[in-house]
Amino acid sequence: MLTNDRLLRAARRLPNDRVPVWFMRQAGRYQPEYRKIREKYTLMEICEHPDVCAEVTILPVKQLDVDAAILFSDIMTPLRGMGLGVDIVENVGPVFDKPIRTARDVAAIPQLNAEEMVPYVLETIKLLVRELNVPLLGFAGGPFTLASYAVEGRPTKDYKNVKNLMYSEPQVWAALMEKLSDMVATYLVDQIKAGCHAVQLFDSWVGNLNRPDYDQYVKPHMHKIISAVKETGAPLILFGVHTGHLLESFSDLGADVIGIDWKEEIDKAWDKVGPHHAVQGNLDPIAVFAPEDVMRAKVHDVLRRTEGRPGHIFNLGHGCMPSMSISSLQKVVEMVHSYDHKEAK
Ligand code: CP3
Repeated sequence: MLTNDRLLRAARRLPNDRVPVWFMRQAGRYQPEYRKIREKYTLMEICEHPDVCAEVTILPVKQLDVDAAILFSDIMTPLRGMGLGVDIVENVGPVFDKPIRTARDVAAIPQLNAEEMVPYVLETIKLLVRELNVPLLGFAGGPFTLASYAVEGRPTKDYKNVKNLMYSEPQVWAALMEKLSDMVATYLVDQIKAGCHAVQLFDSWVGNLNRPDYDQYVKPHMHKIISAVKETGAPLILFGVHTGHLLESFSDLGADVIGIDWKEEIDKAWDKVGPHHAVQGNLDPIAVFAPEDVMRAKVHDVLRRTEGRPGHIFNLGHGCMPSMSISSLQKVVEMVHSYDHKEAK
């Protein structure tokens, strides 16, 4: 039963007794228990076994005392379920058997039917909502971020093929964005219908575009996805890395919460996205490795900057890393939960 709804209250900018905190990639290789499970199952096999997947999702909630669970999955899970031939290669990332580059490739992408193609995702969500007392977040990758893997075929540094497609074949690009956006919208709504209390849209790599390109080639598709999710009433968190230059463009997409990466000063970023949003973030992940007093000062700096207005969800500016220690992450949670707003002012 949901007894801790601080994250949902913050997403709706309602006052809270303390700031809710969770971590992107809070389940993963930094946990010995996760590493043990990975000896038996690949990442995708975990996702395909609802009991194992639920266990992995719950683990960080118990271990770290965070205020939300995020479904253990990957942004590639639905594309894999649709038969696109993608695998997650350890220490590399998503790799496609055959990149998607032509009008023909795009036309061959099927529509997502979650119940048929990724039934284990919906089943895991149903298991989890029975067990958890904190909100469960569903998620999907943004269409640009998904395309950056699907078009390049693997992780890229320069985004050459994906930008080339965008600039040289705008119609093929638009068709690809439309297909991926339809999939993402369906997938997010289906996760909410199965029981997720809120969703996060990871458009992690969209910061590689400048603002005019984002507005022209990506934003209309994001708007469509967010509008579809809005009809469910569940809050949506929009997140990307290196997006300081795009924050003003994010401000009229209809997202409830904007995730802020660690490069931004969160109070100034909040001004850019506007007071009609909640914000999430944004401790520099590397601060988790710092001496405790430095880490505390940095945690307090984030909290001080958001103090006095409801609607802050504490998180890292990007995800947890395999070399992080459980005890440091526990300390971050403790620092957030015990922060005395008035005293620190
Ligand atoms: O946050 C959570 O606890 C939920 C789990 C989650 C995973 N992937 C599991 C995973 C989430 C939210 C994701 C999203 C995801 N996947 C993103 C967007 C988030 C971000 O970090 O910006 C992206 C870009 C991917 C694609 C992906 N999957 C990459 C680049 C990698 C790293 C490859 C590697 O080995 O370092 C993955 C693998 C992956 N997905 C791991 C986990 C826990 C690594 C651990 C493993 O292989 O077991």
